[in-house]
Amino acid sequence: MKRTPIVAGNWKMNLLGSDVTAYAGSLAAAGPPETDLDIVLFPTPVYLAAVARAMPDWASVGAQDVHAEEKGAYTGDVAAGQARDAGAVWTLAGHSERRQYHGESNTEVARKAERALGAGLTPVVCVGETLEQRQQGETEAILDAQLAPVLAVLDAADTDTGAGGGAVLAYEPVWAIGTGLSASPEIAAAVHGHLRQALNDHCSGLGDAARILYGGSVNADNCEDLLARPDIDGFLIGGASLDPASFLRIIRLCTGSGSGPAP
Ligand code: 13P
Repeated sequence: MKRTPIVAGNWKMNLLGSDVTAYAGSLAAAGPPETDLDIVLFPTPVYLAAVARAMPDWASVGAQDVHAEEKGAYTGDVAAGQARDAGAVWTLAGHSERRQYHGESNTEVARKAERALGAGLTPVVCVGETLEQRQQGETEAILDAQLAPVLAVLDAADTDTGAGGGAVLAYEPVWAIGTGLSASPEIAAAVHGHLRQALNDHCSGLGDAARILYGGSVNADNCEDLLARPDIDGFLIGGASLDPASFLRIIRLCTGSGSGPAP
């Protein structure tokens, strides 16, 4: 099955208002990707609406996180419906930094994914093991535990509305995030194959349609080899997405349209 690749930038807690509008201008000036490719940016919530307005129509915007509840007394949090209202069409769920610094459990991540689907957002559910877990040979067990409640949500959404068919997972090994040490194409491909098998086993055929992104020190030097692997359907990029020239370069490499410098 042909799956449209996704190149997504997670800006995390970086960039100011003037930066993000200039960024949108750089993207617009570069023009749309030359092949079928979904371009997504995940700004901090305070800039979500502005980025959604400023982006060219061939790029879309997502929230970095949404709350598991629909609304209510949750100071500082963002509801899925609010993110959607502000122009988001995607949301991350369970990024390792949310799991680490905000104590998000596998169950809570699945509830967020469910809430996102209910609000019309496509969740990009992030999973990944730490270095210690990998060294202990626990990678697949950790990923399976992270995935189990999410698969139940995706399967139910698919059965009820067909919405699960838009499912996106992101494999982000914690040891590769922000370290400059990307997973090798072999390691990433093995994990992606495992994730797709899990989707197929538990979500009645969803696995072939779901896109599985890789994230963790992706840059212009390693993106082509990673994307060449059949189960790697694109990227969730942190550091290398902060500069529009660097992000555009990765986009061009992923469309096979050259490795020249950004305009
Ligand atoms: P880096 O690309 O900076 O390693 O970050 C990856 C990431 O966490 C994207 O969500």
